[in-house]
Amino acid sequence: MEIRVYKDKNEVADQFSAYFAEKVKGTDAFHVALSGGSTPKIVFDVLAANFADTIDWSRVHFYWGDERCVLPTDDESNYKMTVEHLFSKIEVPHENINRVLGENDPATEAMRYANLLEIDLDRVDGVPQFDLVILGMGDDGHTASIFPHEIELWDAADHCVVATHPDSGQKRVSINGKVINTAKEVAFLVTGGSKAEKVEAVIEKTPGHEAYPASLVQPKSGKLVWFLDAPAAANLNQNPS
Ligand code: 6PG
Repeated sequence: MEIRVYKDKNEVADQFSAYFAEKVKGTDAFHVALSGGSTPKIVFDVLAANFADTIDWSRVHFYWGDERCVLPTDDESNYKMTVEHLFSKIEVPHENINRVLGENDPATEAMRYANLLEIDLDRVDGVPQFDLVILGMGDDGHTASIFPHEIELWDAADHCVVATHPDSGQKRVSINGKVINTAKEVAFLVTGGSKAEKVEAVIEKTPGHEAYPASLVQPKSGKLVWFLDAPAAANLNQNPS
């Protein structure tokens, strides 16, 4: 596990974008699962601003680690956010964008998306393998859309599951723990002081950390890299005070 701590979320975005560009350069086809929420917005803005013409986007195949079960035009849609902050500013072939159809029945879509991943990606022991899974972490320790109150979804047999947001009840389609931990690489992008307690719990395995889905991210053979800003890393021993 590699832990990278940067000054603030802008530096996290700058550094991760350069890291991402480097990863893509070395491949003919790069399959990445995106996360949603607010942190990726800044990363996508930097990618679009600084790497639009240096990354060969035809090599990048976009998927989502999780998506809200809403229309693609809904402000809650991770796809919509990604169009606004990234796809609308780069030359990416339409066929490279594999959105979760949030407008579909959640259970049907979870099955469809799992099948899509099984067809599109290489498989390791039958599990679709991403080149990179980008994850965020909620204040409650959730990741992708596996929440603490239904942490058993992490070990679901199906590669994609239907999750329910604990507060809003919003349905979501999420990849499961097996898909996440089969990835060649997992990058956690976590910023903000509100995450510090859970970052400490997950990285330093403090008592009770097992209750947080983010603590189950342990790539089988892949690499795990944390991109943190100083506020999110404030409680870490490794973080120079
Ligand atoms: C989502 C995300 C979710 C997100 C965390 C952190 O669809 O909401 O995939 O898992 O990564 O909630 O979100 P922030 O980056 O906004 O803190």
